Amino acid sequence: MSDMPVDEFRRAGHQVVDWIADYLHNMRDLPVLPNVEPGFLIDALPASAPESGEPIDGILADFERQIVPGMTHWNHPNFHGYFSVSASGPGILGEFLTSALNVNHMVWKSSPAATELEQVTTRWLAEWCGLGPEFFGEILDTASTSTMHAIAAAREMADPDARTKGGSRDLIVYTSEHAHSSIEKGAIAVGIGQDNVRKIGVDDAFRMRPDILAQAMAADRAAGKRPCCVVPTAGTTSTTSVDPISDVIGIAEQYGAWVHVDAAYGGVAAIVPEHRHILNGIERAHSMVVNPHKWLFCPIDLSVLYTSRPDILRRAFSLVPEYLRTNEDGRVVNLMDYGVPLGRRFRSLKLWFVMRYFGHQRVIETVRNHIQWTNELACEISRHPDFELAAPVPMALICFRMRGSDDANRKLMDAVNRTGHAFLSHTVLNGHFVLRLSISNIRVTKADVERTWQTIQSAAAAL
Ligand SMILES: Cc1ncc(COP(=O)(O)O)c(C=O)c1O
Repeated sequence: MSDMPVDEFRRAGHQVVDWIADYLHNMRDLPVLPNVEPGFLIDALPASAPESGEPIDGILADFERQIVPGMTHWNHPNFHGYFSVSASGPGILGEFLTSALNVNHMVWKSSPAATELEQVTTRWLAEWCGLGPEFFGEILDTASTSTMHAIAAAREMADPDARTKGGSRDLIVYTSEHAHSSIEKGAIAVGIGQDNVRKIGVDDAFRMRPDILAQAMAADRAAGKRPCCVVPTAGTTSTTSVDPISDVIGIAEQYGAWVHVDAAYGGVAAIVPEHRHILNGIERAHSMVVNPHKWLFCPIDLSVLYTSRPDILRRAFSLVPEYLRTNEDGRVVNLMDYGVPLGRRFRSLKLWFVMRYFGHQRVIETVRNHIQWTNELACEISRHPDFELAAPVPMALICFRMRGSDDANRKLMDAVNRTGHAFLSHTVLNGHFVLRLSISNIRVTKADVERTWQTIQSAAAAL
């Protein structure tokens, strides 16, 4: 079999780039959420793949006709659910080239430039976030994977036998009631177990309470358990609350426990000088995760795991079969030594494109605008007689409610989402259903934010 002829590739490639350019330009004309029923695509597509190849024009036409109408447009400026993200122009171009180059930089030799660009870009990003040169960075797919690796390193530090003998049921991981589920999943994956994750209570701003953490760690030690890892969050998923990292580290240090900071979302806010304080104390942490695919305008997937103890991470995972041995000198990093995946996508290329194209100052300005517009809208919401804020607003996410029942708020969210003009998601705070509105897309403008607020008010009035 031979590949697509080069002329055909060139023609279809230009068509695809034109499609992407129009898509990004006309995004506001599309409904944020699709109007489809479950099974719509499965029922529409053939049950088996074609016996004979089909022309690319037909495939592209079906992409527009059948796939696009069923898409939730995460790139839409009025996608305010979960955390809004963005594939920026330079990020898309980087991703395009990554798939063309198709390298696998498991070892330096298998793609020297990909290995070294990962080292360069993770250092650049560390500098932007205020992490010192002692932090080694590697790129993984998601924060869930990064955190699982950090917990594995914590286990390695506490129990070096676990790697060979398995089992470490007396190790305990601490995180807050508001931490992301990936912390528990990480503990499940490395064999610490879900029962050995303590969910520490929070204060009225949804931040981990150091006094409860101290009590829990002391009680576990008194019961013969081994506190091994503490995971504070800088930007929790429900409310973007920031745990008191420095105080948490002070307590963890008394037990020699590894501290992993989940800054998957909030780490990018620390690039803005007046928000740098959210990572206060980070220099004493063992690891941190930040996701450029959340708020740094890179297409998914791109998560960076930083650690000041790469030696321990390496001890946890390095396993070199004969066929992967290389004889480069000591300067070389073989990224496969620092985690589970052998194969690695060349993700740093899109990060390099994004960081170079926008530069430090434009990233600061964009993230700063997101935070400012969020705070301005939060003020309007708090002043409106029919609405109330449900949590403080430290970053670019508003948790709010219409005054009334949970059911009315659920109906309001569904009504807003049905309009196609905006997409909101929800959480539960203090037992109540709460709407979440995230403002972090690179194309979002103040006018977009105002339009969403109008949509919410009209939907509320119509209920
Ligand atoms: C605070 C936090 N940590 C971790 C994650 C998991 O991220 P990922 O989807 O990259 O695994 C999320 C996802 O939103 C998050 O908000």
